[in-house]
Amino acid sequence: MKNTLTSAVCAVALLSAGAAIAEPKAEVLHWWTSGGEAKSVAVLQKEFSDNGGTWTDMPVAGGGGDSAMSALRARVLSGNAPTAVQLKGPAIQEWHEEGVLADISSVAEAEGWAEVLPSSIAGHMKCEGTWCAAPVNVHRVDWIWANADVLEANDIQMPNTWDEFNAAAEKLQAAGIIPLAHGGQAWQDATVFEAVALGILGPDGFRKAFVELDEDTLTSDKMKAVFDQVRIMRGFVDPNFPGRDWNLATAMVMNGEAAFQIMGDWAKGEFLAAGKTPGEDFLCASVPGEGFLYNVDSFAMFDVDGEDSKAGQELLAKLIVGPSFQKVFNLNKGSIPVRTDVPLDEFDSCAHLSAQDMAASGESGALLPSYAHGMALRGAQSGAITDVVTSHFNSDMSSDEAVKQLAAAIANSL
Ligand code: GAL
Repeated sequence: MKNTLTSAVCAVALLSAGAAIAEPKAEVLHWWTSGGEAKSVAVLQKEFSDNGGTWTDMPVAGGGGDSAMSALRARVLSGNAPTAVQLKGPAIQEWHEEGVLADISSVAEAEGWAEVLPSSIAGHMKCEGTWCAAPVNVHRVDWIWANADVLEANDIQMPNTWDEFNAAAEKLQAAGIIPLAHGGQAWQDATVFEAVALGILGPDGFRKAFVELDEDTLTSDKMKAVFDQVRIMRGFVDPNFPGRDWNLATAMVMNGEAAFQIMGDWAKGEFLAAGKTPGEDFLCASVPGEGFLYNVDSFAMFDVDGEDSKAGQELLAKLIVGPSFQKVFNLNKGSIPVRTDVPLDEFDSCAHLSAQDMAASGESGALLPSYAHGMALRGAQSGAITDVVTSHFNSDMSSDEAVKQLAAAIANSL
């Protein structure tokens, strides 16, 4: 009896000693490598190490994360998943279905995430009822950015309609300025396309097309009008656009070589990192039309062995949704906090506009997940749409042909 008791006591002592000496560590896979992005991820890295964590950085360059996702697949297939991964939208549930994600419900419950996150966003972080990802921010995708001096010098206002946009772009082009800074990468083509689609289809049409994959909407005259407008915009891009990174396109707006960029508000992170001020050096406006396309960055934890890694995952998840990180990170990143209880007084006018429009769109049913940034559809479907969008952008494909291909691509991907 005494022996059994002694070994039980020893086991408990060992267990608690084990827990006490766990040193949080995390290998973090992400694609935040531009100026503004790197500054933002450094905030997380610092908070992690200030709280005793050891961070191993695994940055995979490439806006939109396509290369990062290929790197992730290779790591998981070789049985060596990273501890924490920048992952979002339905890809979170797809990885959960493969049985490789860790359950972080204990952190979520201890930290009261359900009380501080909007339910529309919390839904993206859940896998069959358990919490499987920690949300970082709310990026808005449907923005137009502009160089304030260039617009003023050419007597141009931020456009309220696509016709106004086209007229402004023609005027700029005649003045020798590149109207639209763009990088020819599939995800950037998709970003411009979905911003135009939101404006022309309206929120209900956007939902039908890119959330519900409704064939009538995908092949409608309005969808043809979306491709028509994208075709016009293709003419506003300079010849060197193929392959250009998005942040280099932002730099063209910054230095006045180009007037506008259509890009999510990570572009604001670039302007801010370069010391530019909204309203003075650069302007922000939502694209013509109604609605709000959201893109929520988040981190999922992969099921890895070792107490140190598990402690690292818990610490990371806790910090990511914590109020101090939410404020400082988002001030740098260009996004707004995902928590509803973080005061916005230190945030700029673009962030305030984003928060107001998000609240209003939430009430009117116009708050929509970005298809181009992997929030609306599973990978096979969004990939099928982007293939058509990018081949239309890079050829002389007609709008009639584009909608036909869109419908066929969706049918094949289901
Ligand atoms: C988005 C991501 C943003 C930003 C952007 C460009 O998909 O959500 O945080 O980094 O790609 O890399």
